[in-house]
Amino acid sequence: MTEPSATFLLFGATGDLAHRMIFPSLYNLLADGLLPDDFLVVASGRSDLSDEAFRADIRASLPKFLPADRHDAAVADRLCAIICYQPVEAGNADQFAALARRVEGRLDRGLAVYLSTPPSLFAPTAQGLAQAGIITPKTRIAMEKPIGKDLASSKQVNDGIGALFAEDQIFRVDHYLGKETVQNLLALRFGNVMFEPLWNASAIDHVQITVGETVGLEGRVSYYDGVGALRDMVQNHVLQILSIIAMEPPARMDPTSVRDEKVKALRSLRPMTAETVKTHSVRGQYTPGAVGGQIVTGYADELGKPSDTETFVALKAHIDNWRWQGVPFYLRTGKRMPARQSEILIQFKPVRHSIFGRDGHGSGLEPNTLIIRLQPEEYIRLLIMSKRPGLERQVHLDEVSLDVSLTAAFAGQRRRIAYERLLLDLLAGDQTLFVRRDEVEAQWTWIDSIIDGWKAAGMKVSPYASGNWGPSSAIALIERDGASWHD
Ligand code: BG6
Repeated sequence: MTEPSATFLLFGATGDLAHRMIFPSLYNLLADGLLPDDFLVVASGRSDLSDEAFRADIRASLPKFLPADRHDAAVADRLCAIICYQPVEAGNADQFAALARRVEGRLDRGLAVYLSTPPSLFAPTAQGLAQAGIITPKTRIAMEKPIGKDLASSKQVNDGIGALFAEDQIFRVDHYLGKETVQNLLALRFGNVMFEPLWNASAIDHVQITVGETVGLEGRVSYYDGVGALRDMVQNHVLQILSIIAMEPPARMDPTSVRDEKVKALRSLRPMTAETVKTHSVRGQYTPGAVGGQIVTGYADELGKPSDTETFVALKAHIDNWRWQGVPFYLRTGKRMPARQSEILIQFKPVRHSIFGRDGHGSGLEPNTLIIRLQPEEYIRLLIMSKRPGLERQVHLDEVSLDVSLTAAFAGQRRRIAYERLLLDLLAGDQTLFVRRDEVEAQWTWIDSIIDGWKAAGMKVSPYASGNWGPSSAIALIERDGASWHD
């Protein structure tokens, strides 16, 4: 591996993500001695701020986004001492030239550029960097989602960046890949002998992936309306989880091997049509209701006008390959759900033959279930059958759970912000946890089939009261198949 980049250049530095995630992550990395010596952070935004004004802003915002036991004024001072601020607007050559002066003499020690701006600025920013002579073979560029709003526009973004950077310099961020629990899916599947032999259509009845959020629009009206849950959450985070659950074992834990297998799984997703979307998808939008005992308004009220943007989506997906033939993957995600809860459920098939009464009837025999809770708690729970103690002639079985709380198992280990892992990997040039171009395009190909299907079928959003797991049709989507969502 090469030397870590010595300079970090952040576009969108005055924005929400920078304050909430990126600077707190840099703070933690610095506090733990994980940043290279002589590291420099060049923050850039459209606002005309001095170095000192920007540092004061960061110093004031850090405590809001760090747990109280991490506050240390001395670390904040050390971080501020390595930050400078350069105002830059796309298309302003003088400002890009000023930016070049900020990094002068440092480029041969590696530069990591991070675009935390609207995607429309990705290509113009990269062009500005090129014209100012800031791009070298040692420059890496990271981009936040969304990469486009469909396959065609994602290709445009990728072409724009790809004209100036090679694929091994491009780091597409999906922050779910920085989460310990998502990385732990690889450990669970490929670090244990007992799951993989059963991880296929012979033993698995179906898979559920739920990413539920209690929040609503949170002031993101201008971004979210017209985008919706399918593009905002399924295209990236949910499909990342799906591809890790569904992929074949990679030969090695390296960027090419891992991403090759994820792409194959994504390409095996069966496209939807105007016919199948009617039975295999649900679009919902929250209306007024109560979440966690709080009365909340509806989406249209927050927006101030009616809208057909979905804030909830449920899907029944099929992966057409040898491993998963006939195993539905039920996916759902939404805002204003009853709980912030992300989890994967693997529903195994019943035992082939029950020795406990005819067909297991009367014995309580249930198929095994594996639940992997990603957030907010982190645990793995395996539901297995156990004999109910007693002297009855007929054996009665009860479901008991084998529980592993990852929080308890790794007590004392600080739970890190997902961006800490991603920033370190970006500086080190490790792309394993970043999204490759063909991966993002395979995601969009499937998402486009759903959006096209919705348009052709004229599928409008169905209302659901805030504080529910989506419209009742989402329950019907899975119950028609004799299964039910795990709530
Ligand atoms: C973002 C979406 O990518 O992920 C947001 O744009 C969503 O709408 C967020 O709230 C969820 O992330 P997390 O880490 O809180 O589950």
